[in-house]
Amino acid sequence: MTENKTATEASLRTGAQAELLFNRLRKRQKHLRKWAARTGAGAYRLYDRDIPEIPLVLDFYGNDKAQAVSGALYKRPYEKDPVEEELWLRAMAAAAAEALNIDGQNVFLKLRRRQYHRKPLSSGKNFDTQYQKESNGAFEMVIKENGLSFIVNLSDYIDTGIFPDLRLLRKMIMTEAPGKAVLNLFCYTGSFSVYAAKGGARRTDSVDMSSTYLEWAARNAALNGVEISAERADVFRFLERAASSGRRWDLIIADPPAFSNSKKMAGNPLGGVFDINRDYQFLLSKCLPLLKAGGKLFFCVNARSFQARGFNLNNDDPCNNFKDESAGKNLSVRDITGQVRDEDFRDKRMPVCYLITK
Ligand SMILES: C[S@@+](CC[C@H](N)C(=O)[O-])C[C@H]1O[C@@H](n2cnc3c(N)ncnc32)[C@H](O)[C@@H]1O
Repeated sequence: MTENKTATEASLRTGAQAELLFNRLRKRQKHLRKWAARTGAGAYRLYDRDIPEIPLVLDFYGNDKAQAVSGALYKRPYEKDPVEEELWLRAMAAAAAEALNIDGQNVFLKLRRRQYHRKPLSSGKNFDTQYQKESNGAFEMVIKENGLSFIVNLSDYIDTGIFPDLRLLRKMIMTEAPGKAVLNLFCYTGSFSVYAAKGGARRTDSVDMSSTYLEWAARNAALNGVEISAERADVFRFLERAASSGRRWDLIIADPPAFSNSKKMAGNPLGGVFDINRDYQFLLSKCLPLLKAGGKLFFCVNARSFQARGFNLNNDDPCNNFKDESAGKNLSVRDITGQVRDEDFRDKRMPVCYLITK
């Protein structure tokens, strides 16, 4: 009897939350659809915990043939019964499909696990990196952004191949690119590289340790009719080699993950583990010498922990050390997050972005 009562209460709560989500998504989509058509954004953020008791993040993906949603459930501060959670997720997915008028099959919701505390999915599988493949079926589509094309995969990974939050930074790179030598570190699926190449970069070098993502980057480049040179390497080893061979770039993009301890990093200068909070100064200090005079380093961090502690622009070490030892002049460091915050992230969390000019 009590069990039935609890189940009924849970189901009523879920129903009420589904309705709240439906209304919120209707309103957001009404506004964002027009904005996206006007500005050429094929992938955008619809929802990020707008309603606290619905802890989802949802992105919309659309082209002229298909519309889809990729989303994730944040880890709840309390344990929820897995069966109840499954039912809840299904109800939210159905509400999203209905609100956006899309096929329910095209709504992909996953569990976003904290990177340091990985948990098995309800399917029983255990994934040890944020970027590991999640299923065997593939739902791929090509989305347009600022007239460029990118392949996204909504079914197989937590991240889909493009990060909507860095859209305006990608555009900025395109504007900066003409005639420049560009280095894209942690390049993932190569979206910055494609923008740079399309913008007229003299050359574009991309580095990532994952062959899966480098293949994806090559497909993105081919789709846009550009060539990018991509190297499969641990970024920290790459930076060492580049320094000793005297290579230099006009623009460097460093958008590292919060944490990484892949086997491929074993024996690297960081002892095989990258932790943004511990190692960002090291990363910057290795990038800055590779910048030509007048060059620009774009540095982005998505980690909440980093954003909470901040990067002290006035007296943080990497730039000052670098200034003292090598550059002999001030480096300008600017927080450009506000400049690259697009409409869909107006009141939403996004990575913090810095521009360091040599
Ligand atoms: C946060 S994503 C980068 C996103 C990308 N900048 C973008 O905007 O599309 C992280 C990427 O870093 C790569 N990665 C992580 N640690 C690495 C390392 N030590 N060396 C090279 N690549 C690394 C991963 O394979 C993944 O593709």
